Amino acid sequence: MSQHQWPSWLPLRADLAELSPYGAPQVPSLAQLNTNENPYPPSPELVEAIVARISEVAGTLNRYPDRDAIKLRTALAQFLNNISGTTLSMDQIWAANGSNEIIQSLFLACADRGALGFTPSYSMHPLIARVAGVRWHEGHRRTDFTLDIKEAIAQVLDLQPGLTFITTPNNPTGTSISVDEIAQLARACASVSGLLIVDEAYAEFSRDISALTLLGEHANVVVIRTMSKAFAFAGVRLGYLAGHKELIAAMLLVRLPYHLSTLTQAAAMAALEFQEQSLATVATLRESRDRLAQALEELGCTVVPSSANFILFSVEHPNKMWRSLLDQGVLIRDVGLSGYLRVTVGNEVENERFISALRQSLGGK
Ligand SMILES: Cc1ncc(COP(=O)(O)O)c(C=O)c1O
Repeated sequence: MSQHQWPSWLPLRADLAELSPYGAPQVPSLAQLNTNENPYPPSPELVEAIVARISEVAGTLNRYPDRDAIKLRTALAQFLNNISGTTLSMDQIWAANGSNEIIQSLFLACADRGALGFTPSYSMHPLIARVAGVRWHEGHRRTDFTLDIKEAIAQVLDLQPGLTFITTPNNPTGTSISVDEIAQLARACASVSGLLIVDEAYAEFSRDISALTLLGEHANVVVIRTMSKAFAFAGVRLGYLAGHKELIAAMLLVRLPYHLSTLTQAAAMAALEFQEQSLATVATLRESRDRLAQALEELGCTVVPSSANFILFSVEHPNKMWRSLLDQGVLIRDVGLSGYLRVTVGNEVENERFISALRQSLGGK
């Protein structure tokens, strides 16, 4: 909750007055392991391709971009089909400035009956709902952070939300939901004429079957993806969704005209062209994650099993530990979960720095 005193001359919406702007602390550090970015920068070849693509379109910047991002959506459909064996077409894909904008568009288009999510999960889901004026229902997980699917279905049937959100692998816990359970939840959502939104921001790091494979049979399933994590492209701001073409038609109603710049579209096309290279770091990050989990366990921490590029682990005094790590140049995330902190998997040097700082803070164990 915000302490900010808003001036009386500012006609701010009353329901926003007590909010604080979202954001992890941006503090200079030697190891920045707090926002689940990919630590590996784009390869020199990709940088060259981005520059080439941008110089191709630079001479057209007096014109608005392709409003419907047809080439990009076609390339995204092909990418998803390659990795998931689906047969998606361009008219089942929507793209925007990061998956946060995708989430906002879903709220703007489809949330008359409120939205449901299962806490702890991505904290922006309820926050974007609130800013969009959508009622948010907070469902719950088991104490080990897994989702009790029967319980989740009961909540869907009871609340009958227009939108139900799940995140798999889940942020901040790293835990996954099986595709069979997702299908069960999708059926429950369909029975109350609701959409099931599956946020797969971290899916490329996981070995689970994607909910993309459910799209053929379940018109109400929507899968959100991003280039910010596995693709190592967070600075570009490119998120997208795959779903039924009627949902895409609804996205066209709420998008701002020309929302996705020519430069963004060009850079994203270059990344898709170099997808093998861009995604090559995924295998490295999975291995680093497993090594990091082991090192944390050896230091006596409980580690929540993660299929993502981050790890939630137990510590006695999260606030104190967060500060002590920062004092040693390591920035991780206090996600507000009692007894836990979250660390993003970094490069080898950053991971070692984190583990040695943690060892030091735990008293040199
Ligand atoms: C689960 C989840 N969804 C969506 C996002 C937003 O990603 P972006 O807007 O960068 O695509 C994040 C970012 O951390 C996330 O953790």
